[in-house]
Amino acid sequence: MMSEIEMSRRGVLAGSAAAAALAAAPPAEAQPAKAPAPAIMPVSLTINGKRRDLNLDTRTTLLDALREHLKLTGTKKGCDHGQCGACTVIVNGERINSCLSLAVQHQGDEVKTIEGLGTPDKLHPMQAAFVRHDGYQCGYCTPGQICSAVAVLDEIKRGVPSHVQADLSARPQPTDIEMRERMSGNICRCGAYSNIAEAMAEVAGATVKEMGA
Ligand code: FES
Ligand code: FES
Repeated sequence: MMSEIEMSRRGVLAGSAAAAALAAAPPAEAQPAKAPAPAIMPVSLTINGKRRDLNLDTRTTLLDALREHLKLTGTKKGCDHGQCGACTVIVNGERINSCLSLAVQHQGDEVKTIEGLGTPDKLHPMQAAFVRHDGYQCGYCTPGQICSAVAVLDEIKRGVPSHVQADLSARPQPTDIEMRERMSGNICRCGAYSNIAEAMAEVAGATVKEMGA
C-alpha cells in the first residue's frame, strides 16, 4: 500500500509537470505585437546654400539625413552618441553634433557641412591651413574638426565667452589654451591636436607661440 508521503510526492511531481507544460504552451489568444508604423514628416532645409526637401521618418537624425538621404558623406559618424565631434556641422552659424539632433527639428534651418566650406580647387582658409600644418592623419575626424574650428573663430569674433576666458573684451586675441578648450568636444584618435592648434592660430592671424602656448 502506498504511504501518505509517497502519494503526496507523486501529486507534487504531477502538479509541477502540468504547470511546466502550461507555462511552455503559448497563450491561446496571444497575438504578435505589431510595430507602430513610422511617422513620416516633410522637412525643408537649406544645405550649403541649396534648399532640400525631404520626407523623413521623424526619428531620423540630422546626421543620417545628411549622409543617408542626401549622400553628403563628408560629415562623419564616429560614436553616434555626442562624444567625439566627428559629426559636427554648422547650423544657423552655431556648431552642433548632428548625431544628437533630429532632422525634423531643423525645419527651415541653414546647415553648412564640410562640402559647403570649400572645394578641392578653392579650399576654405581653414582647410588650406589644415593641409599646410598637417592637421590630420587618418582624416576621419577632420571634417568635424574643420567645421568646429571655423565656428570657434567666429564665436571668438562675436565675443561668445568660453570656460577659460569669460570676458573676451578684456583680451580680444584668444590664447592657445582657450582655443584648445573650445575644441575639446572634437576628439582626434590620431592625436593631431598640436597641428590643428597651429592651423587655427594661423587663420586667427597669429602663431601658437604668440597665443601663449
Ligand atoms: S558621431 Fe556625433 S559626436 Fe560622435
Ligand atoms: S586624424 Fe585620425 S582621428 Fe583625427
